[in-house]
Amino acid sequence: MVVTREDAIISGMIMSTAVSDAGLTDFHSHCLPNLDDGASDVAMAVAMLRADAQQGVDTVVATPHFYIGQHNVPTFLQDRQAAYEQLLPHLTEDMPRVLLGAEVLIREGISRFDLRPLCLEGTDILLVEMPFSAPPYWLLEELERIVDTQGVTLMYAHLDRYLSWYSHNHFEMLMDLPDAIMQVNADSIADKKYFGSLCRHLPDTRRMVLGSDMHNMDYRSPRMGQAVKVMSKSRDGRLWLERIVQMTERLERQVDNTEGLL
Ligand SMILES: [Fe+2]
Repeated sequence: MVVTREDAIISGMIMSTAVSDAGLTDFHSHCLPNLDDGASDVAMAVAMLRADAQQGVDTVVATPHFYIGQHNVPTFLQDRQAAYEQLLPHLTEDMPRVLLGAEVLIREGISRFDLRPLCLEGTDILLVEMPFSAPPYWLLEELERIVDTQGVTLMYAHLDRYLSWYSHNHFEMLMDLPDAIMQVNADSIADKKYFGSLCRHLPDTRRMVLGSDMHNMDYRSPRMGQAVKVMSKSRDGRLWLERIVQMTERLERQVDNTEGLL
């Protein structure tokens, strides 16, 4: 019998080497100081980034909340840059590199605004947060319009938090948009029981990535390491981990290629 690499990983014969070799990327975090409901100051931001690094993370995307109506894009970008510059002198070699992005709450009418400057730097990927409710009637149309008119790729923030509102079909409709990516919070995976529900209810996709959604070092601290540990202990988990690693490598190549051009 021929055993493929994927078979070997899923069965636990080998562990994906990419996590230990290349490190993880945390695609969702609130680590910029004094900006949103995340890190309250530079010391907190540094502690969060160090904790992420200790758990095998080598790249963190800072994704402060963007609420249309409360923010406008140019001032949001200025505020984000100022917060990043506060942090910059404290970033040492043993800490993850920090990339800039945003977590954009989808509201009716948001597709009229140019959201491209909020994409993860170096990419066309926009991290979007669905309203915390059953999907409103306008949601899919609004998302389609953003994709069609702005040419961005959607990354859905923490789809793991919508299990009680979204049917399997709702999830599938979201993932049917071109090249859409599912971001899952490490916290949800770290909870072994809940992870079982995620495996049953979330779409079966290769286009998945991990985020800590860390806000502080208390009740919303990074748990990327614990999530990897839980995933490595089951067949479904190892499949998820392999997919996460592969998708992360693809996205990192996009970012690095753009960096090379600068
Ligand atoms: Fe978040």
